[in-house]
Amino acid sequence: MANRSPCLSAHLPTSPAATRETGAVIFDIVQVGDPVLRQRARPLAREEIGTPFVQELISSMRMTMYDAPGVGLAAPQVGESLQIVVVEDDGPHLENMSPQRRTELRRLPLPYAVLINPVLEPVGDETDEFFEGCLSVAGYSGAVRRHRAVRVRALNARGEPVALDLTGWPARILQHELDHLAGVLYIDKMDSRTFTTNENFGRWWKARPVEEVRRSMSGPSPAAPEA
Ligand code: CO
Repeated sequence: MANRSPCLSAHLPTSPAATRETGAVIFDIVQVGDPVLRQRARPLAREEIGTPFVQELISSMRMTMYDAPGVGLAAPQVGESLQIVVVEDDGPHLENMSPQRRTELRRLPLPYAVLINPVLEPVGDETDEFFEGCLSVAGYSGAVRRHRAVRVRALNARGEPVALDLTGWPARILQHELDHLAGVLYIDKMDSRTFTTNENFGRWWKARPVEEVRRSMSGPSPAAPEA
């Protein structure tokens, strides 16, 4: 998920946690239109997780996420159709945001996590609609309605089972990243009338509720073509 998203505040270019790990490389992030983003990613066998290939891929995904910068990255976004996600939304990203905006977005800290073969289930019926962006649809954002709370079960980088109970923004990040593993992008789920460049978001819509943005952007629909 893009941290460049206009719904998120300005931030430092790199996370303080972004100490370079040995062997890690910064990948180019695959952009929309590449078929790898539309494939269903393959789950990993447990014995694959400890291999140098997978461990280096995880380290490189983490560094690529910090470099972007973003708050989540899925393996297909670096060209590997594998069920691996890294997430972190902590530190400077949150410090630069007003307490009021943080409360509104339920922008709770999400410590670094590696999730392999993750499965997500919604918790409760509540949903929220906010603008989000994606590092693979660089420069744009749109409003997406998502579950407010989710539970994610996965394997960690050591192949151990983990379960995360998340609400608010961390729940949104996980829903966005797990969609990548199913070949789904936020643009498939957004209200397309709210789609905007990040520049225009900052210029026109930043401080406004999604409902107001939708009303303002909902001009007359184009006429149906003549039969
Ligand atoms: Co994304």
